[in-house]
Amino acid sequence: MFRYQSAGLAMSVPAFMLAFGLTGSAVAQSAETEEIVKTMRNFAGNQKARPSGAKGQCVIGTFTPTAEGKALSKSAAFDKPSRVVARFSVGGGNPKVPDATKTVNRGFSFKLDEGGAGQTEFVMVNAPINFVTSPTQMLAFLKARVPGADGRPDADKIKAFTDANPETTNQAKFLASRPVVGSWVGVSYWGIHPYTLTNAAGAKTVVKFRMAPTGGDVSLTDDEAKAKPSDFLTDDLTARVAAKTASIDMLAIVARPGDEATKVTETWADEDKRPTIKLGTIAFSAIEKNETCDNAIFDPTNTADGLAGPVNDPLFTQRQPAYAISISQRL
Ligand code: HEM
Repeated sequence: MFRYQSAGLAMSVPAFMLAFGLTGSAVAQSAETEEIVKTMRNFAGNQKARPSGAKGQCVIGTFTPTAEGKALSKSAAFDKPSRVVARFSVGGGNPKVPDATKTVNRGFSFKLDEGGAGQTEFVMVNAPINFVTSPTQMLAFLKARVPGADGRPDADKIKAFTDANPETTNQAKFLASRPVVGSWVGVSYWGIHPYTLTNAAGAKTVVKFRMAPTGGDVSLTDDEAKAKPSDFLTDDLTARVAAKTASIDMLAIVARPGDEATKVTETWADEDKRPTIKLGTIAFSAIEKNETCDNAIFDPTNTADGLAGPVNDPLFTQRQPAYAISISQRL
């Protein structure tokens, strides 16, 4: 399967590469990004916490790449086993949100080989799609929800925005269609944006990343969720780490010609049915103090050579400045 996909991709690379915007460099922070972070922080009460993924737990482990990962990418991230610093989170800006809340996402951010030659960072959520396709749409999404003089969001304003931007409900619908997450290491996370892997021979493969729990999904019924303590996800993670059963596979979903590069409110056609390539496995070894994760950002644009995100998509490139503004205001 791996050989077949490589051959297919090699033939279609030039058009692909243009579509996915593979040249360029880091993008400066924009006034729009500043306004997005300010609006997110206002929603979250301007507290000393992240305005998104505010509640979380830091953890450490080891990433062991596979031979297939090394064959697809010359990145030092796939060269040899490396230390992982990771943070699991519960979506939204409330650091006290109950862990069983169904309407917000679960996040998974991690750094491979921090401080080393292969330093590579990912920020993922438990949905294969995002709720907006661009920072402009993100700001409009947020502004439609800003409370009026009575302290409440205007339902008509939200409806008008949603009617004009129906794709912005796709992620919420996906989350609502799934059971409550029973374990941070019992659910899949997606990188959402397409990335390009380049191997030692220069062959390029466009993929989306999915992190899949090695022990399968762990879900709760609504009744089980109601009975859970507010912070059960950290207790669950601690127990699974101690039992050495907390691990997640990194899978690549390979792009086909014609796949969208930036329409991240939708999956690629049959994306969930495509064969995947296992690039490696993260095994978690210890719970880490939260300061380790809180005193830095996870920057998805920071990847070791041989692995790159979409440089022409501001929804991706503006994440670094957004996270940098955010940390400067929350510490
Ligand atoms: C331009 C688009 C985006 C903006 C402006 C934005 C904004 C933010 C901000 C301000 C934070 C807090 C960061 C910190 O204080 O360290 C954050 C965190 C986060 N974002 Fe985004 N975001 C964007 C796109 C995305 C996308 C597409 C995803 C999903 C793939 C995502 C997933 C997350 C997660 C999981 C966290 C928690 C990170 C952590 O654990 O430290 N974001 N985002």
